[in-house]
Amino acid sequence: MKNLSPDEQIHLQALKRLIFDEITQAGDITFARYMAQALYAPHLGYYRTTRPKFGQEGDFVTAPELSPLFSVCLAQQCKGIARDLSSFQILELGAGAGTLACDILKTLAEEQALPEKYLILELSAALQQQQRAKINTLPPELAQRVEWISSLPPQLTGVILANEVMDAMPVHRFSVNSAGIQEFFVGIEQENFVWRLKNPSNTHLEAEIKKLNLTSLPYESEINLYLPAWIQSLSDCLKQGVILLIDYGFPRHEFYHPDRHMGTLMCHHRHRAHMDPLILTGLQDITAHIDFTQVAESALQADLDVLGFTHQAAFLLNLGLLSLLPSPIDRRTSQEVNILTSPNEMGELFKVMALGKNFEAPLQGFMTHDQRRRL
Ligand SMILES: C[S@@+](CC[C@H](N)C(=O)[O-])C[C@H]1O[C@@H](n2cnc3c(N)ncnc32)[C@H](O)[C@@H]1O
Repeated sequence: MKNLSPDEQIHLQALKRLIFDEITQAGDITFARYMAQALYAPHLGYYRTTRPKFGQEGDFVTAPELSPLFSVCLAQQCKGIARDLSSFQILELGAGAGTLACDILKTLAEEQALPEKYLILELSAALQQQQRAKINTLPPELAQRVEWISSLPPQLTGVILANEVMDAMPVHRFSVNSAGIQEFFVGIEQENFVWRLKNPSNTHLEAEIKKLNLTSLPYESEINLYLPAWIQSLSDCLKQGVILLIDYGFPRHEFYHPDRHMGTLMCHHRHRAHMDPLILTGLQDITAHIDFTQVAESALQADLDVLGFTHQAAFLLNLGLLSLLPSPIDRRTSQEVNILTSPNEMGELFKVMALGKNFEAPLQGFMTHDQRRRL
């Protein structure tokens, strides 16, 4: 780890020591447990520290950080939904640097369609601090609508937003091979983390992998066992309205396609993407793509309707992205639009799914290219 600063070295060693101690006491841990610790261990996990993550000085760029156009389009969708509701709050999950919240509030203020409250549920105290600093730059009339909550509210009417949140949830990593179904655990060898293939840690995991009917072997991939309960918890808190989930991923037949036999785990460190989550523990983001068929199934199970599913480019264009552009368009805006919508960039890999409760009106973002039949 040549290029790490002394602070980063100390941080890396401290988190490694924490996880080493757990493994020494209890034996090898599942990859899901390793990922949970690497991202969320108190004070040391990647999302628990104050190191910059988003934007040029961080590790990766999310759509709201890339361009305010993303947030303006999302605000248009929120406004459209609010028209069909008797009251209107927004709840954002995992609000990152707070940029989406700021830009949505500014847009809705201009459109005279402000929510009564803009709630943020953020697990990381460090990110919460960053969000507060950003929200405090807004006019008081907007800033005072923002509230940070530590658990889901009981009876929300409005919109729940989660941009790139599901991809940061711990996943179980497995292999289906000539030995049957096996799970990747994490152990230690010579002061480093190493993979260990063993029998699955639980029967539920094994049953879920069997259901995937993988026939092109050997096949390695991931599965998110926590997603159904998470979707259920969102449904429980929503009285009426829409949940908008934006993330990279595919319908199940594409996710578990034979070509994707190494899975979808990706790590991001200083804008370099690679596939080794066992290094730079706590200093790099670890993500997995989303099986949107699983999201839709979980939603139906949780009494939610799947109101729409499309890719990010179609969603933004349906919401009038092109009408927001200055004329003549400057180079920077043109680059931003290209990254947001081009099939080689975020345009097709990123998907948007809308889940509804007691909500039937059509959604503008899915007016064309609704791909629910592909789920
Ligand atoms: C990749 S960042 C995305 C941040 C931001 N939404 C953006 O687009 O810039 C992932 C975020 O999801 C949050 N997160 C992960 N699991 C969560 C959960 N179960 N509930 C709420 N936030 C969660 C993390 O703390 C982190 O802030």
